[in-house]
Order: sequence, then C-alpha cells, then structure tokens
Amino acid sequence: MDYKKHITVVEDWPIEGIRFKDITTLMQNGGVFKQAIKDIVDYAKDLNVDVIAGPEARGFIVGCPVAYELEIGFVPVRKEGKLPREVVRVDYGLEYGKDVLTMHKDAIKPGQRVLITDDLLATGGTIEATIKLIEELGGIVVGAAFFIELTELNGREKLGGVDIKTLMQY
Ligand code: PRP
Repeated sequence: MDYKKHITVVEDWPIEGIRFKDITTLMQNGGVFKQAIKDIVDYAKDLNVDVIAGPEARGFIVGCPVAYELEIGFVPVRKEGKLPREVVRVDYGLEYGKDVLTMHKDAIKPGQRVLITDDLLATGGTIEATIKLIEELGGIVVGAAFFIELTELNGREKLGGVDIKTLMQY
C-alpha cells in the first residue's frame, strides 16, 4: 500500500521550518486507515503482546483499534494532570518544545509484554519517555509501531534497540 499519498504535508506548521505530516487525510479514507491498522496488528501478532500503550493524542488513534482487534487492553500515556489516580511521571523533550508524560501506576503489571503505538517517530523523545514509564512499572517493551518515521531525526537511536515497525519513512 502506498500510504504516503494519503498523508498531507503542511509547510511551516505549527512553527516555521516544520513540514507537518498530517495523518487526518489517511484516516478520512476508511479502507486505507483499516489497512494501516491491519499492518500493525499483523506485526503485533508475532510479538505475543499483552497490552498496548500509546501517548496522547495520536498514539490513541493508532493503538486503540490495534488493541480492539487483538482483544487486549489499551493503556493511555497522558500529559500531566489528565489521569485521575496515582501516576508515574517523566519529563521529556519534543521536536519543538518540552512536556511531561504520565501513566497510572497500575496500568502495567510486572512482566507484561507491551507494544507502544504512535502516529509519528520524530526525535524519539516521546517514545523514550514512554519506555521509561513502562519499564518503571516492570513492563517489557517488545516493540514500537508508527505510521510515519522521520528518518533524519534519528529517533531510532533513542529507543535502545527496541524493535520498530513503521509504515512509511520521510
Ligand atoms: C507528536 C506525535 C508524537 C510525537 C513525535 O505528538 O504525535 O507523539 O509528537 O515526536 P518525537 O518523536 O520528537 O517525540 P504531540 O506531542 O505533538 O502530541 P499530540 O499527538 O497530542 O498532538
């Protein structure tokens, strides 16, 4: 499937110099969206995954349908102040900016095999932070799956050898 033709590249958004990869045009096409999710489901089937974890907000868009299809749980990784119970937290750097990510303390059980999902691997800061949270809870990150990888930002190098699946590269 040529997924790239369903992505809209927006120049200078949200700030000058960024060529934003807009996945909403891919999602608007039900057949293409379904195929993209199926590719990640097929990848996950080989990994014996117990639970999916995805960072807000676009990690939910990718991760929830994958979890639904595999009939396993989905854990939201959220920005600070969004989760109502006890959390673990980590500071992280973004492609443009800084933030904090949190997970509920009971979201992952020790020894669970976790697949991380997101729309985009850019600098890898978001996923590096997500890996830290999962490992702090005793989870094992067995893979990370993305629609898009921005290869020149070398995000892979931050993921410490975690197996990575991407549907398209820029
Ligand atoms: C974007 C994107 C990834 C992350 C990738 O999310 O959806 O999660 O940035 O960048 P990185 O690899 O450099 O960390 P953003 O934080 O903008 O949140 P959103 O999905 O809520 O818009």
